[in-house]
Amino acid sequence: MPSVAPAMRSHAMPHGAACHPVAMSHTPSDLSVDSQLVSLGRPRREPGAAVGPGVELTSTYVADGDLSYARVGNPTWTAFEETLGALEGGRALAFASGMAAIAAAVSLTRRDEVVVAPHHAYNGTGGLLAQLESEGALQVRRVDITRTSEVVDALDGAAMVWLESPTNPMLEVADLPAIFAAARLHGVLSVCDNTFSTPLLQRPIELGADVVVHSVTKYLSGHSDLLLGAAITADDEIHERLTTHRTLHGAIPGPMETWLALRGMRTLHLRLERACASAAELARRLERHPAVDRVRYPGTGAIIAIEPTGGVAAAQAVEQSIRLWLPATSLGGVESMLERRRRHPLEPESVPEHLLRLSVGIEDVDDLWRDLDGALNSAG
Ligand SMILES: Cc1ncc(COP(=O)(O)O)c(C=O)c1O
Repeated sequence: MPSVAPAMRSHAMPHGAACHPVAMSHTPSDLSVDSQLVSLGRPRREPGAAVGPGVELTSTYVADGDLSYARVGNPTWTAFEETLGALEGGRALAFASGMAAIAAAVSLTRRDEVVVAPHHAYNGTGGLLAQLESEGALQVRRVDITRTSEVVDALDGAAMVWLESPTNPMLEVADLPAIFAAARLHGVLSVCDNTFSTPLLQRPIELGADVVVHSVTKYLSGHSDLLLGAAITADDEIHERLTTHRTLHGAIPGPMETWLALRGMRTLHLRLERACASAAELARRLERHPAVDRVRYPGTGAIIAIEPTGGVAAAQAVEQSIRLWLPATSLGGVESMLERRRRHPLEPESVPEHLLRLSVGIEDVDDLWRDLDGALNSAG
């Protein structure tokens, strides 16, 4: 077990009782992931009971029950957290956004400690680490996560290793089991952003990670209609520290968002199956496209990055002429989206200026191809 700073036990639950899960159904643990997605997080099966959780809109609870104040817990969160926790193999905590979950996970380090992080982590994560570094709160060692020995060497004296695999938007892939094992050996806390893969494609806790974070905004909720984050861990002390962080910093989710996210998760397996199949087909066709210089596709998942032959002007022209794909930031929704990532000032300069990130949705693959092919041809 990696060492972490002592938990703030005395402040863990400033409003009294912890959030005990309200009576949720007990679903056999031998179910497949697809069946778990559909059946977990439901109220107890009894005559007259609702089949799905309600949206509990309250700021507080009558005293002396399991729940005390809604910044500490809410049954609508519990239904979502129970489901995601089971899928990732730990206990989940919902946060107001992916960045709120990431900030909570980063807070597991102490002042001046070293965090090993990818050159190309999600630019919000990179931006947060850079800001903390500039304030003298942390030291950041940036590594090429495809070079396992470089990552392992960087672990010496570090407190945390931050991983994304595949990375956003360069789609680099890390040897997660090897890095998590080395982190454990060095007493380094490992955190993995699993937004791109979801627990259906990759379960980092089973591979040895201490903490998993998600932008639930993306695939898990799946409909581009909310922002939400989550942090999951199988370690009780880390869970308590993250809970304390959420309660005291207050980056809590709205009940409606967690309810919508759980509803979206009911179809995650179907959405992801379609999106991954279409992405594989589009990547194959893009490889042969004369207006595309380079295709980055890790062979799994539904994100592709391409570099048009005509450079930045061509990438911008594609964004402007595309009709079915949405020219928008974000990913993981039912609707396909593409974006030139370097339009964001926080994106590292090593990301090519003309790189377009494609998030493949669940539309008809031939319609997606016709639209993209047309836009690439006219961009020249
Ligand atoms: C990999 C990854 N992690 C985290 C985030 C941040 O999530 P949110 O926008 O929900 O705060 C994003 C957002 O794009 C992301 O792509």
